[in-house]
Amino acid sequence: MATETPTTDPRRHAPATLRNRAPILAVLRPVLPQTGLLLEVASGSGEHAAYMAPLLPGTLEWQPTEADAAALPGIDAHARDAGSGRIRPALVLDVTRAEWPVGRADAVLCCNMIHIAPWRATEGLLAGAARILGTGAPLILYGPFRRAGAHTAPSNEAFDRSLRTQDPRWGVRCLDTEVLPAARRMGFQLDDLAAMPANNLTVVLRRG
Ligand SMILES: C[S@@+](CC[C@H](N)C(=O)[O-])C[C@H]1O[C@@H](n2cnc3c(N)ncnc32)[C@H](O)[C@@H]1O
Repeated sequence: MATETPTTDPRRHAPATLRNRAPILAVLRPVLPQTGLLLEVASGSGEHAAYMAPLLPGTLEWQPTEADAAALPGIDAHARDAGSGRIRPALVLDVTRAEWPVGRADAVLCCNMIHIAPWRATEGLLAGAARILGTGAPLILYGPFRRAGAHTAPSNEAFDRSLRTQDPRWGVRCLDTEVLPAARRMGFQLDDLAAMPANNLTVVLRRG
């Protein structure tokens, strides 16, 4: 989780992004389109955008978004530090809202949100991505998942317990029995699955 720096510096820091950003980028590179707009949902600290956007091939632009409006100045500050003209000013986006501030995107990326939010956030993400993505465009999810109802590692099981203690509506979702069926109902098909460090997965869905 991101922590606020106790100064007027708006930048937040999520240490896990330093560990997972390069492996995520390696999976994203061949999946993302060369041009157009990537909409990032739940940008958090904005460190993924700041690291990845300058390293993407082509001219793809990156639109960071966050449900927490207070995070926006920090996301923009990290983007300025990155010196990349490809990162747009951050926008407020709560995926559970029917209205999204971006009407069309060529890819949607969402890291580490669906287990730290009520299930209706996953449903909102899938519904919104289905609205704004064209046929064949990717929706990419990164995070921990259960498989066939079971945890894939004791650390994920312990994480799941701690999430549910913080908020009973949170929890590590099952890819096979929860996320993929909901994605199919919204017109997405599973295109690719990559095992990531620390028992995480990157899931590439494509709009049919
Ligand atoms: C663990 S952080 C992940 C941040 C970043 N993607 C990362 O991997 O470091 C989870 C984020 O989900 C966001 N979030 C929770 N509910 C949301 C919603 N309904 N719509 C959009 N973002 C939401 C939170 O504000 C938080 O920034």
